[in-house]
Amino acid sequence: MPAPNIETIVSLAKRRGFVFPSSEVYGGLGSAWDYGPLGVELCNNVKHAWWRWLVYERDDIEGIDSSIILNRMVWKYSGHEETFHDPLVDCRECKSRHRADKLDLTSGATTAGGDIAEMIRQRQVKCPSCGSTDLTEPRPFNMMFRTTLGAAPDENDPTALAYLRPETAQGIFINFLNVQTTMRRKIPFGIAQIGKSFRNEITPGNFILRTREFEQMEMEYFVRPDAEHLTLVDEWVEQYVEWFSSLGLDRANLRLHEVPPEELAHYSKRTVDIMYRYFPERAEEERQWEELMGIAYRTDFDLRSHSNKPVDGEGKRVNPDSTEDLSYFDEATKQRFYPHVIEPAAGVNRTVLAVLMDAYSEKTNDKGEMRVILKLSPRLAPIKAAILPLAKNKPEIVGMAKAIKRSLQPLLRAVYDDTGGIGKLYARQDEIGTPFCVTVDHQSLEDEAVTVRDRDTWEQERVNVSDLAQHLQSRLI
Ligand code: GAP
Repeated sequence: MPAPNIETIVSLAKRRGFVFPSSEVYGGLGSAWDYGPLGVELCNNVKHAWWRWLVYERDDIEGIDSSIILNRMVWKYSGHEETFHDPLVDCRECKSRHRADKLDLTSGATTAGGDIAEMIRQRQVKCPSCGSTDLTEPRPFNMMFRTTLGAAPDENDPTALAYLRPETAQGIFINFLNVQTTMRRKIPFGIAQIGKSFRNEITPGNFILRTREFEQMEMEYFVRPDAEHLTLVDEWVEQYVEWFSSLGLDRANLRLHEVPPEELAHYSKRTVDIMYRYFPERAEEERQWEELMGIAYRTDFDLRSHSNKPVDGEGKRVNPDSTEDLSYFDEATKQRFYPHVIEPAAGVNRTVLAVLMDAYSEKTNDKGEMRVILKLSPRLAPIKAAILPLAKNKPEIVGMAKAIKRSLQPLLRAVYDDTGGIGKLYARQDEIGTPFCVTVDHQSLEDEAVTVRDRDTWEQERVNVSDLAQHLQSRLI
């Protein structure tokens, strides 16, 4: 049973130290969240799982970590300055702002034919905040965060203007030749990157699902111009569905969405989104889904755009600002070309939210009390083992428990806890997803063995202290 709604996870996340509303002491900052001690571990484990899967376990992918602030020309030639817009609508009545494409258009009569601007003109669309139909026409709003570089620059000086990156992908494209030549790579190969991205979203919300600052795990896979690009998109979709399943997501809560041509990003010839059921409480099945990640065929758009060689119909350089040509020379065929790109782009935060929702379960104990169990995949669990003394007033038991914790520390994330009765301690660890509780009792002092309790089954087994590390490690895959 996954979480019934996102609010259940918001409350658990705050209560147990996964995610806190940001800047709370100053009344918060709309839709900004801080990851607490358990949240940062969970995020790191998701990122490590992704990195291991793509960079370590495959032979054809390298990793990089590029700057967040890039030369402004990157965003000019990537097309983001001109096209990275959302349609913004103001409500004249309550002054709230909304994304036109996210307004509820179901009430509109058909004369406007689905044209949002026309429907707004005909006053068929309501403000989601106050219900008024007095809305402005949609106008483009660029989502890139602007900043200025250098000491005391004039805010409007175009030479000092810079952006916080809205996607990690461009840092990969502009480093394509650096990576390819230094790592002596032949096409096909990929470059992976994890990092923060920033978008001035008009309507952020739904906890960590849509925020202005978020983290992406993107990979650009470079292939030949004559490769089977559309089939490759399907192959990556399949691999990602498998990967999400390996993180514990139920296949029934994932589904695919072929993005219609009129909604494709400016660089994409085809995009398939993997959607997660973030809103199971919504009666209408169609409204239960939101994008978890997208897999796009970006053609050779980006490498070509950042190169100094391509010319237009009149022989003029399309990019007079670039100093390099990002084409690739294929030794085997003696051909030079701009590689085409398949891009699986996933969000760390959306993955974390999906993982938390899917892991959520409730169980009633033999006293009839409801307990929350977070059935996280052991490799994602923030804490792998909690070492608990059965009697905290017995120095020998406490000493032995602390020594066991210290001995496990270099191998796995373990904690020691004696802040409550054993039932309460178990319940706390279940709720934060710790796969194993290790209890040290009076008997342990004599037989050098401990009780290992399984989070999901609540079954217990006796394990020799000398075998404990191996016992736990073999179950943490
Ligand atoms: N380079 C392609 C790209 O950025 P995208 O679909 O705009 O594609 C990829 O973003 C992923 O990044 C999304 O599927 C989502 O998981 C995450 N993402 C995008 N905007 C986000 C936001 N405002 N808050 C949280 N995650 C976001």
